[in-house]
Amino acid sequence: MEPESAKVVLLGEAGVGKTCIIKQFVENKFEQNILSSLSAQFISKTIEYQDFGRAIKFDIWDTVGQERFRSMAKIFYKDAKAIILVYDITSQKSFDALNNFWYDEIKNNSAGNPVYAVVGNKNDLYQNQQVDINEAKDFAKKLGAIFQLTSAKNGEGIAAIFDNIGKKIIKPSFQYDEEEKLAKDNYNKKKEEERNTKIRIKLNNNNNGNNNNSTENKDNNNTNKKNGKNGKKGGCC
Ligand code: GTP
Repeated sequence: MEPESAKVVLLGEAGVGKTCIIKQFVENKFEQNILSSLSAQFISKTIEYQDFGRAIKFDIWDTVGQERFRSMAKIFYKDAKAIILVYDITSQKSFDALNNFWYDEIKNNSAGNPVYAVVGNKNDLYQNQQVDINEAKDFAKKLGAIFQLTSAKNGEGIAAIFDNIGKKIIKPSFQYDEEEKLAKDNYNKKKEEERNTKIRIKLNNNNNGNNNNSTENKDNNNTNKKNGKNGKKGGCC
């Protein structure tokens, strides 16, 4: 299968995890102490889409997040087949930058009709989440973008971004239905919980059954002691 090339560019504030997302996708690795990027660079990975009989070689461009380099990003994303806008779910500021700056920037400057994705990274830190997920989803909808929560740390959602981008490049009518995916996930979670609850109840019943038996035995023993060896009440027969 001869792969076709697709340039993909990641944009977003410094520190949101662009480099780590790429590293996790290409090398299945995560680095906690990674240096901030000082120049844009790219790395490639090919994915085969058996269902479509096609393969895509993603040329993935990592851009510099620091604000003073923003104007340079245009050089990289203007002819891209896909643009991934990354925010950090624990940083409202990083999401606001997408909404207030990058949205207009890419709408005005990207050529053709690139596939867009909005990615909320660092989902492993969801306890510290600052960005409202519904707001993020609305933003993705406004852009006609694929929406994905990810963790470059544990790999959650990373393959899915590129999988869905590739499908949309191959078949622009491909609908990544987040609601349907969530509904499916929730359904599976609920079923799993129901199964676990049933097991817990069964185990409790078994334990209680054993305990009850032992209480019963104790009671019987006491009664036996009181009433004599056979445990029968009354004296004469
Ligand atoms: P610039 O190169 O400055 O534009 O930043 P960047 O967007 O490329 O971020 P980078 O990948 O360098 O990650 C920044 C910091 O966030 C690093 O300390 C990473 O270890 C950390 N990080 C990245 N992704 C995750 C994640 O999913 N979870 C957690 N907990 N930390 C992450």
